[in-house]
Amino acid sequence: MIKLDTASVEVKTDSQAVALYVASWLKDLALQAKDKFSIVCSGGSTPKVLYSLMAQAPYRDQFPWNKVHWFFGDERFVPKTDELSNYKMVRDAMFSKVQIPEGNIHPVKTELPDAKTAALDYELDLKRYYGAEKLDPGRPLFDVVLLGLGEDGHTASLFPGTEVLKEKTAWVSAVIGAKPEARITMTYPVLESSRHVAFLVTGAGKQKILADLFGGDKNLPSANIKTTGQLHWFLDQEAARLVNDGG
Ligand code: 6PG
Repeated sequence: MIKLDTASVEVKTDSQAVALYVASWLKDLALQAKDKFSIVCSGGSTPKVLYSLMAQAPYRDQFPWNKVHWFFGDERFVPKTDELSNYKMVRDAMFSKVQIPEGNIHPVKTELPDAKTAALDYELDLKRYYGAEKLDPGRPLFDVVLLGLGEDGHTASLFPGTEVLKEKTAWVSAVIGAKPEARITMTYPVLESSRHVAFLVTGAGKQKILADLFGGDKNLPSANIKTTGQLHWFLDQEAARLVNDGG
């Protein structure tokens, strides 16, 4: 459940203002990092404006691209050239426009034979990056996990009613049947192992689900994201309208 006393909520005028705020927030955090810094990208349409902004001046020239590693909270099991691919979305919006060292981008290998194999492979990639097989609550895997919010309350590919919601051991799972295309998703333990977990939610279409979430509906997958780090909600006024009206 969203404990407002432990989450920080920022409401900005519109999606562009949210993107500007989050781009600045990410840049400051990354610049403070001593060595490597990791960001988990969320998919869907909301964060596109953020990724595009980061690939433009001034962020493009101020962001420490060399030390930042990029991961994906979830992926659609489609070719990297497919319009549905989250990797393609982030590559077109940002990766293709800035200099990022080889090996700093960690896409899900959707060229593997099936989603389960791709999930296992991605879990190995995360464990290699972390340098251990087990998550240590005192040593978060990521610095920032960016998340979106679906109108049904899902986040990443943690969809209502799916088995992956109960997964506490695997770091990455395949989610088959929730959507027409198979999905690969990080599980709760991994998404929560981060210094910061930040939901970006904009647009009138998210008013109802956000009001349900902030109103205490504990059945929503996104309501059950806890974290040893800090939880942030970056909203625009459109999405937050019902929450503000106590709706
Ligand atoms: C995905 C995302 C998913 C997304 C929400 C919101 O792969 O689609 O990871 O969790 O964040 O569905 O999507 P929109 O930003 O398009 O509303």
